[in-house]
Amino acid sequence: MAEEDALGRALDLGRDYIASRRERPVWPSATLTALRDALGGALPAGPIDAAEVITALSRAAEPGLVTTTGPRYFGFVTGGAVPATVAAEWLTAVWDQPAALYVMSPAASVVEEIAGAWLIDLLGLPADASVGFVTGCHMANFTALAAARHELLRRAGWDVEADGLQGAPRLRAIVGDEVHVSVIGALRLLGIGARQVVRVAVDDQGRMKPEALAAALAEAQDPTMVCAQAGNVNSGAFDPIDAIADLTNRHHAWLHVDGAFGLWAAASSALRQHVRGLERVDSCATDAHKWLNVPYDSGLVFTAHPAAHRAAMSLSAAYLTRSPEEPREPMDWTPESSRRARGFAVYAALRTLGRSGVADLVDRCCRLARRFAARLQQEPTIRILNEVVLNQVLVRVVPQAGDADAATREALRLVQEERICWLGGSRWHGMEAMRISVSNWSTTEDDIDRSADSIIRAVRRVQSGQTSRASGMP
Ligand SMILES: Cc1ncc(COP(=O)(O)O)c(C=O)c1O
Repeated sequence: MAEEDALGRALDLGRDYIASRRERPVWPSATLTALRDALGGALPAGPIDAAEVITALSRAAEPGLVTTTGPRYFGFVTGGAVPATVAAEWLTAVWDQPAALYVMSPAASVVEEIAGAWLIDLLGLPADASVGFVTGCHMANFTALAAARHELLRRAGWDVEADGLQGAPRLRAIVGDEVHVSVIGALRLLGIGARQVVRVAVDDQGRMKPEALAAALAEAQDPTMVCAQAGNVNSGAFDPIDAIADLTNRHHAWLHVDGAFGLWAAASSALRQHVRGLERVDSCATDAHKWLNVPYDSGLVFTAHPAAHRAAMSLSAAYLTRSPEEPREPMDWTPESSRRARGFAVYAALRTLGRSGVADLVDRCCRLARRFAARLQQEPTIRILNEVVLNQVLVRVVPQAGDADAATREALRLVQEERICWLGGSRWHGMEAMRISVSNWSTTEDDIDRSADSIIRAVRRVQSGQTSRASGMP
């Protein structure tokens, strides 16, 4: 009874939250101290009724929530959650399947198999590619590069899973200078230190230069993995995958593509040209919690080498019973054993959107990003720093007089303070920038216009010197 009451309460609270999403302030007003006070206190001495706990949790936490699923949240690269995926996540929690082995949840295993095949089809990857459902693109990069490490060392006569890295042939990792930090994080976990990574030159949009890669590849014969990128986290730019694949083929290097959000361009006929050559790569990684608009957390890894992928990940123990029919054993493809059954929400997203729905979502976000840039560009003191090829827009304030970095930072602070929209800051070519990512299914033209107006208002206030610092902002 208590469980049903708590679920009913959560459903009511969830519905209210969803209904308020469009008009809630995008960034919360509660201070750190207020949140600690509201959520804190001593560990309860004994049990409290479940529904009461849920009500109190919601009351205390809500003032500290960022409306990341709202239509004017443009921070980081954050997808909203399409309705079917939220409902599927709730069921996933109710079902509570530890999706490591088929025997723990046949449905979780089969749903991964089906959703994995749909994703391979949607993204135009090789039909026999392997798939892993992980927490996010960081772990997807890690998993793919662990498969790369396995395969490159296997070809060199070394069993890294058995014999480790000490005494192993030296591995080389080559990345573009605009590599995402999670690739470096993944390589670090795999025994390749940040200082050992070879970085090659990129162009003004952050795209790896093939001639720089060619020179780096020619420098040594060591087993090599090359990490390219589809969708620069600032500019949205794509490395030229096809040209890079020509080079990695020639040098027998493993080609990995980090496509945390940019990989979804493959689902759009208008944008697919940006990922030309994707079908030739050895592995790639993306996030469902970004552009597929699945709730956090949900990352995806694909490899063209199932045996290497499985060898790098799978573990066995007497009690970890494998099924005789040889179904998909989810833990063979991920670094974790016990794990949430992430496949259900991905399945729900693909089923509710369909092929055309994913393409529409991606195309619409790109169209809205172009609208954002066009509106902002009309303001004489605003410069758009990147070519808006995808869903990312980099905005800089260039005042007639004074420090452009300080003006950009101050304008961003004012935008965040107004709370009509939320965007974060970054640096691009040594310049401060406001960073916009349009990644949410529910964002409309009106949301873009309201947000652009808020940014323009802030820029004008900075220009006229009418600013004052409020508390509680990041
Ligand atoms: C290009 C790129 N790679 C990797 C990541 C890491 O993804 P996650 O934080 O989901 O693990 C991101 C996150 O924004 C990204 O933009």
